[in-house]
Amino acid sequence: MTNQLDKKSQAWSALFSEPMSELVKRYTASVFFDKRLWQADITASLAHAEMLCHQGIISADDHASIARGMAQIQNDIAAGTFEWKLDLEDVHLNIEARLTQLVGDAGKRLHTGRSRNDQVATDVRLWLRGEMDLIIELLADLQNSLVDVAQLHTETILPGFTHLQVAQPVSFAHHLLAYVEMFARDAERMHDVRKRVNRLPLGSAALAGTTYPLDRERVARSLCMVDEDGHPAVCQNSLDAVSDRDFAMEFTAAASICMVHISRLSEELILWMSQNFGFIRIADRFTTGSSIMPQKKNPDVPELARGKTGRVVGHLMGLLTLMKAQPLAYNKDNQEDKEPLFDTVDTLKDTLRIFSEMVGGQWNATSGKKDGGITVHPSAMQAAAQKGYATATDLADYLVKKGLPFRDAHEVVAHAVKAAQSLGQDLSELPLKTLQQFHAEISEDVFACLSLSGSLNARNTLGGTAPEQVLLQIARHRQRLQ
Ligand code: ARG
Repeated sequence: MTNQLDKKSQAWSALFSEPMSELVKRYTASVFFDKRLWQADITASLAHAEMLCHQGIISADDHASIARGMAQIQNDIAAGTFEWKLDLEDVHLNIEARLTQLVGDAGKRLHTGRSRNDQVATDVRLWLRGEMDLIIELLADLQNSLVDVAQLHTETILPGFTHLQVAQPVSFAHHLLAYVEMFARDAERMHDVRKRVNRLPLGSAALAGTTYPLDRERVARSLCMVDEDGHPAVCQNSLDAVSDRDFAMEFTAAASICMVHISRLSEELILWMSQNFGFIRIADRFTTGSSIMPQKKNPDVPELARGKTGRVVGHLMGLLTLMKAQPLAYNKDNQEDKEPLFDTVDTLKDTLRIFSEMVGGQWNATSGKKDGGITVHPSAMQAAAQKGYATATDLADYLVKKGLPFRDAHEVVAHAVKAAQSLGQDLSELPLKTLQQFHAEISEDVFACLSLSGSLNARNTLGGTAPEQVLLQIARHRQRLQ
């Protein structure tokens, strides 16, 4: 049986008078990266074929042959025995050519009422939808890891910084839960983007729609491309359907924001594990040694995550630039959407996986719990919080409660801090008599608010660092993440 698609130079029509050079073939082909879409391509083709049959556009026999051929192709690809051909340019033509080889004319009828333009847009959306569902799960895992560590450290105090200067004491739990909030929003963003990813271009054909009586909503339903109310989600304009890639830009933007959050956390882990902080240790399996300095343990994993953030943000810029000057509708430029998208997905998934484990540890079947996550050094954190007059605001608040206007209290405390600095002491170490020189209203009860735990407990309002508030937040997160 002749199979025109097997000879690329003849694949389009008799119109072409010369074959492509090897270089041009390699330049224009995408099969070596887009073969990754094979499962989505088969799934979408099966839904299309079922609809063509239901609409009486192809026969039940042809539909059965297509399903049989696709089942074999599916097995061959999964088993690694499928022969991918550069000559056949992309995943779509490779699968279709093989189908025709296996089942003859029925295979050639599959392409009725569709084009590779709506086909590729559909495949990428289906593939991305599945990856996004995994990413949403991985974001939940990471949040759970952070909450697990937070649960143990609602009373562990470290300096909270602004401008990287000691500002006010906070609990380590409160600090970690700040990241939980970020990753929760990342997951929320992914859910939202998923709604727009999960819409069906198929049936738009090359650009203008098709003359066959397709039932696009039927295809959408069989591919689970439905909106929140369960109605089929079908792209409503054929030109837009084949050329829109804003779902990919939007996903990569969400991924970039998530990587920026990871990068901020990385930066903190790196600082915290440096000798100058000594707040935490990360397990050896996430660090490397130095080839020259025997004492070194370098935080390669968080450093790489910080570095890979640049790569994902770069992919976002790549996709935006890819689209910015394209006229409607499909242009071959769009083939360049895949590698940045694939790499964004891979980088984000790996990073989320590794961070969940690095922070929260891994499951240990013998002990029945997780181990090997970060080791926290509360005493180093506490000692750091003791430096830098972290409770100065508490002294000002104390004076306000005694009737001073806040601005005056601020000034009084500035004098007290200056004096303490010159004595090399913390505010809490100054004798009551000395403190009273700055304001007569200061009495014995001041020391309760100059302690780190007093400072923490005093911030007992919604969103504050007091252990009571933080425990409420932990409970809320636990419930939300169930
Ligand atoms: N490999 C192509 C892509 O990724 C498939 C669509 C090709 N369409 C076309 N008209 N040449 O975009």
